[in-house]
Amino acid sequence: MTPTEQSARALEVCRLAPVVPVLVIDDIAHARPLAEALVAGGLPALEVTLRTPCALDAIRIMAEVPGGHVGAGTLLTRADVKAAKEAGATFGVSPGSTPALIDAACEFDLPLLPGAVTASEIMALLELGFTVQKFFPAEQSGGAAFLKSIGSPLPQVSFCPTGGIGLKTAPDYLGLKNILCVGGSWVAPKDAMVAGDWAKITTLAAEAKALRS
Ligand code: 3PG
Repeated sequence: MTPTEQSARALEVCRLAPVVPVLVIDDIAHARPLAEALVAGGLPALEVTLRTPCALDAIRIMAEVPGGHVGAGTLLTRADVKAAKEAGATFGVSPGSTPALIDAACEFDLPLLPGAVTASEIMALLELGFTVQKFFPAEQSGGAAFLKSIGSPLPQVSFCPTGGIGLKTAPDYLGLKNILCVGGSWVAPKDAMVAGDWAKITTLAAEAKALRS
């Protein structure tokens, strides 16, 4: 799958909802109820970060939840891409991009949302065919003001910014022409997961969904 084809698929995922939950799952027992709660609240695209030992198993379980589109985040290596694809991830997200990671996404047919934060990084990805990119860490890298500015010379690139974004700041991004959606962990707080308060997570998801009517 070429980078251009990957971006076409990433575009579809990013258009599913205004917010992609960024999930750090420590307890495999949380995987199914968490996915069900988020999908019930109106957020079907879910990014499971490969930062915990049970992340790949969580992807396997969450991929079975009706209505969900489960991707793998924090992809750093070829092995991560291979494992994510085998676990059933339908898209992948990386904080940055390397030639090896991009080659792996092409090899394993995993639509990749590669990360970039400078004009040169964005242009290098665009040259390869990535018209949909992650902007990370968003708030620390210039935030919505940067993305608004970069939209003038590079209107052909659309972004999913993540990093430091919450319910209050998400509208600053979502109001821009070159923003498809934002990513964030605020919709799945750890205390709610530990408490099994799935209703709270559905409420947070519904609030996030309502950011774009
Ligand atoms: C991440 O990879 O951690 C995401 O960008 C989420 O960032 P957040 O926890 O600040 O929402």
